[in-house]
Amino acid sequence: MGKGTPVSDLTETEAAQELARLAEEIARANRAYHTQDAPEIADAEYDALKRRNAGIEARFPDLVRADSPSDQIGAPVGEAFAKVAHSVRMMSLANAFEAEDIREFNRTIRRYLGMDDDAPGVAYTAEPKIDGLSLSLRYEGGALVQAATRGDGETGENVTANARTIADIPQRLDGAPDVLEVRGEVYMSHADFAALNERQAERGGKTFANPRNAAAGSLRQLDAGITAGRPLRFFAYAWGEVSAPLADTQMKAIARLGRLGFQTNPLTRRCEGIEAMLAHYAEIEAQRATLGYDIDGVVYKVDDLGLQRRLGYRSTTPRWAIAHKFPAELAWTRLEKIEIQVGRTGALSPVARLTPVTVGGVVVSNATLHNEDYIAGRDARGEEIRGGKDIREGDWVQVFRAGDVIPKVADVDLSKRPEGAAPYRFPTECPECGSDAVREEGDAVRRCTGGLICPAQAVEKLKHFVSRAAFDIEGLGARQIEMFYHDDLLPIREPADIFTLKARDAKNVAKLKNREGYGEKSAKNLFDAIDEKRKIPLNRLIFALGIRHVGEVASADLARHFGSWDRLVAGIDAAGPAARRHLAADAAAAQERRQAASEGRRAAIAATKAAIWAEDPPIAPEARAAWDDLVGIDGIGATVAVSLVTAFQQKAERASIDRLASELEVQDMAPRAAEGSPVAGKTVVFTGTLERMTRAEAKARAEALGARVSGSVSAKTDLLVAGPGAGSKAKKAAELGVETLDEDGWLALIGAP
Ligand code: IVH
Repeated sequence: MGKGTPVSDLTETEAAQELARLAEEIARANRAYHTQDAPEIADAEYDALKRRNAGIEARFPDLVRADSPSDQIGAPVGEAFAKVAHSVRMMSLANAFEAEDIREFNRTIRRYLGMDDDAPGVAYTAEPKIDGLSLSLRYEGGALVQAATRGDGETGENVTANARTIADIPQRLDGAPDVLEVRGEVYMSHADFAALNERQAERGGKTFANPRNAAAGSLRQLDAGITAGRPLRFFAYAWGEVSAPLADTQMKAIARLGRLGFQTNPLTRRCEGIEAMLAHYAEIEAQRATLGYDIDGVVYKVDDLGLQRRLGYRSTTPRWAIAHKFPAELAWTRLEKIEIQVGRTGALSPVARLTPVTVGGVVVSNATLHNEDYIAGRDARGEEIRGGKDIREGDWVQVFRAGDVIPKVADVDLSKRPEGAAPYRFPTECPECGSDAVREEGDAVRRCTGGLICPAQAVEKLKHFVSRAAFDIEGLGARQIEMFYHDDLLPIREPADIFTLKARDAKNVAKLKNREGYGEKSAKNLFDAIDEKRKIPLNRLIFALGIRHVGEVASADLARHFGSWDRLVAGIDAAGPAARRHLAADAAAAQERRQAASEGRRAAIAATKAAIWAEDPPIAPEARAAWDDLVGIDGIGATVAVSLVTAFQQKAERASIDRLASELEVQDMAPRAAEGSPVAGKTVVFTGTLERMTRAEAKARAEALGARVSGSVSAKTDLLVAGPGAGSKAKKAAELGVETLDEDGWLALIGAP
């Protein structure tokens, strides 16, 4: 036997000797590298040793040594995976639970594509949804050059060395397009998971809660040698960037990936119509327990790739695919206590503290109770749920989990209700700051009115501020925010404080570096990480403010529309007076709606609104125009607009926003880039009936070409696309001299076939 004998040819005795040799050699290399700062061997050689060691351990688990190099942390502390920007965003999937949701999915697709009821059906593929973690593999000239985790979809972690150790992942492809990104799921089989946990337990190592955690933990090892010893597998089911199309249907593209050497799921079928899809769902569900790996549903995808392209994407999910999840898993347990959590927008959320219980393999000790109506046994419209049974402390309750979502309390067993259990009284004061907690009309949620004086709201706002889709500051997560918020010497009480931290620390006697959990290096790292984020894209900043109703998508819509922070602030400020008038008109209209008989109701409501808008003092035309501009942004309705204006007009909140902005360099946002597009940067309005595409498709396509799509015509409109039946918008465009095209003219302009 020599150093080069393949692992598969080793006898047990030889393997034991080889492990001893490797342990010694790796230990020597470690000493040289870490302690003596004088590496003796190249990184690649070191990696090869660790991989070989792990490979032998995987084959002969009984021979794993007490001093196994696999158990030692390979990379120096602080080192992490390099970030990788995905060339094509890695999407997630919308979820559905009921057959009816799938029928609606099909209807929505047909509507979007403008198909008549008697047009032939859309064909879909149906395949298991693997419960692992997604991975993108980039091949150039047939060679695997990069493997990256999904991360937030835009940026993942570079795990190339680790992916190379997975047997299902080919290192080379024959006959592939020059650039090919193959996407799929890394997972661990039930048998391999059980064996791994047994091995880990015997060695006193970490055991894993389920195969998915084991797969994730194994792939995200800084030491690829450890990954090599873990039995990971891979199914290919999608792709990212490709220099030439793989095929013209999903089914054929998957078959092509199979021929290129990837494992593809054998339960993938092409289904003509909903009934076939649901039948295949039932078949997959029936096989679930015997598949040997975890799946949590079935994924349907439009088979025709031309239609997939037309359907395109929402912000994070494709319109052409959906995950049909298996029913939730259930368990019964005792509800020990109901506690109220106060969120960033002041919402009081009731949480059930439970006697811990295992639900589908995961221990659950908290579950959401939604809101006070839900506890009382009513839905948002005041109708009974659970047969009107309320939920009390001490009750015996049914808990369920569906996929990753937070566990919920579904039902209560009245026969087990303890004697003397009293109906739950939902607090009308904030448990954190004592301010009134009020419920606005039509809102299911009771909210603390304390604003920033409420510590719970302030902390939650800060946690949101540093979260992944917002500022995403390395080393400043929820845990650190809690600590800094309660720190008296170096507090962070509002977002601006994050950016003054370094300067305050410099002046402080009690320095961060002397604090528990920090040293010279980690304090510097934190200050550097903060400085790195002073430059921030406009959409991220808007989202980070944590204004109610202003999520990631609305933030991006606003950023694209206004382009810069200054224009955004000016636009919101200018709309202020009109926003108040809108609220008054809306309240009066609601009153009217309750009173007016159905006949003539619409006219009455419109008249009431118009009267309020015309009231004295008059609204300046600029304010009205700014308001129209704001609510005219596609995707931004009056609810978002009012919420923005309210936040910016609230004195304390505005001061805090201004303090923050003065610390930052906000990056302008251009409309979606589209080189050479004739409509890039133009503001387009669609009106009337479109005949060759639906409104939604028209909007998505225009945006993909870099246009801004607005809902109303103003002086800023560059182009109106008017179909038959266009009314007031066409008139206004004519008055303003805005260029107007019909649908064919528009299609010709954008060069559509
Ligand atoms: S397709 C653009 N197919 O589910 C569409 N995803 O909940 C990309 N997943 O992030 C996804 N099995 O990690 C697709 N057969 C399958 C899948 C699958 C598992 C995962 C994937 C995705 C997540 C979304």
